Amino acid sequence: MPEDEGSFRAPKGTNDLLPPLSNQYVEVSRAALDTFARAGYQPIETPAFEHTELFVRGVGEASEVVTKQMYTFTDLGGRSLTLRPEGTAPVVRAVLEHGLDRGALPVKLSYSSAMFRQERPQKGRYRQFFQLGIEAIGSDGPLVDAEVIEIGKRFLADVGVPTKLFLNSIGHHANDCRGAYLGVLTDFLNERVDSLGPGDRERIASNPLRTFDSKDPETAAVMAAAPLITDHLCESCRAHFAGVTETLTDIQVDFELAPRLVRGLDYYTRTAFEFVAEGLGAQDAVGGGGRYDGLSENLGGPPLPGIGFALGVDRILLARKENPIAPSELDVFVVAVGEGTAREAFKIATRLRNAGLAADLDLGERAMKGQMKAADRSGARWAAILGERELASGKITLKDLKTADQKEVALADLESAVRP
Ligand code: HAM
Repeated sequence: MPEDEGSFRAPKGTNDLLPPLSNQYVEVSRAALDTFARAGYQPIETPAFEHTELFVRGVGEASEVVTKQMYTFTDLGGRSLTLRPEGTAPVVRAVLEHGLDRGALPVKLSYSSAMFRQERPQKGRYRQFFQLGIEAIGSDGPLVDAEVIEIGKRFLADVGVPTKLFLNSIGHHANDCRGAYLGVLTDFLNERVDSLGPGDRERIASNPLRTFDSKDPETAAVMAAAPLITDHLCESCRAHFAGVTETLTDIQVDFELAPRLVRGLDYYTRTAFEFVAEGLGAQDAVGGGGRYDGLSENLGGPPLPGIGFALGVDRILLARKENPIAPSELDVFVVAVGEGTAREAFKIATRLRNAGLAADLDLGERAMKGQMKAADRSGARWAAILGERELASGKITLKDLKTADQKEVALADLESAVRP
């Protein structure tokens, strides 16, 4: 049954993207893919659903995304499938499946895709949302980390969302690195189990790092004194992180060290980061990412270190809301006045479109006043007004909608008169 009695509504936590905001959605997505391509990241499109096991193994069976948020269903062939909650595991799966790692490394890919998580909806948190992401797969040098991070931060600033970059290293799966740290952290948490929020007690065994992300004030108070991963990194993770921070400093990317930053997906190793925007309220992370050096092996592939990020388009649009909507890029709005002119105006609009110009007209058979209003609202540079007199003389009146100046031009010269 629809969620509102008697009438259909979009499912809870989903959005219809309507004009004019939808224009921004397209504009931001295009700009992102363009920015990514200029740094050598080529687009990839993977299916909207995958075998459930990919996310269980890739994202981690103890992660909240897998335990609580997946849209999983059984298809008619009895397979368990899941709407993708994120893009990294599918991209690595595709790289392995198609042997993209056999060429030059790193493989650099970008995507703009819908993701699905059954979260409790609130401002900036939806059940279907859109991510713009890049992944650089096959290289573990710190320059790759710096490249990925710089691209994300610059792109966000370019689309009008300046962010703070929070940066951490969470080490790698080894006894002399994260393994030892998790032992220290677990001991620390066990000693204070009674002071933790009730929901966090079970995390000590299943996913102790996540206690840093607890929203429970009691847990947060305990975590303020918790041992930090950055004090327990092995020599190679320490050197790698130093390489990342030094390179970011070299290329003048500001960052803030955030030793309590842990990420919600379990594949992360070493570098972890988040881009945080001002004024978004609780859901203020407009993007996040990090290294996932063990993900390929978890999926049955060879060692293939990788790093990437995903930016939340819905949050980018919320953060840009204060910005004026980008004006429409129409060149001409054709206005038809009087008997027999509508069909001619339509032919002219089609002719302009064929000539590569952006043209529109009123198809609602409105009077001239209504059409001029529509022309103004359309953001077009010119109104091309076709009356009976003009039609008879092979001319058309051009009104500059910025200055209100008018002139007559020969119909045959219309394209050159309006071409920007
Ligand atoms: P994530 O931090 O889960 O990382 O998501 C990245 C971004 O997607 C978030 O910072 C946020 O802007 C947006 N986002 C996440 N969940 C929602 C939601 N329910 N509603 C609206 N926006 C949301 C990943 O997904 C990783 N795959 C990123 C990555 C790529 N790491 C390495 N490569």
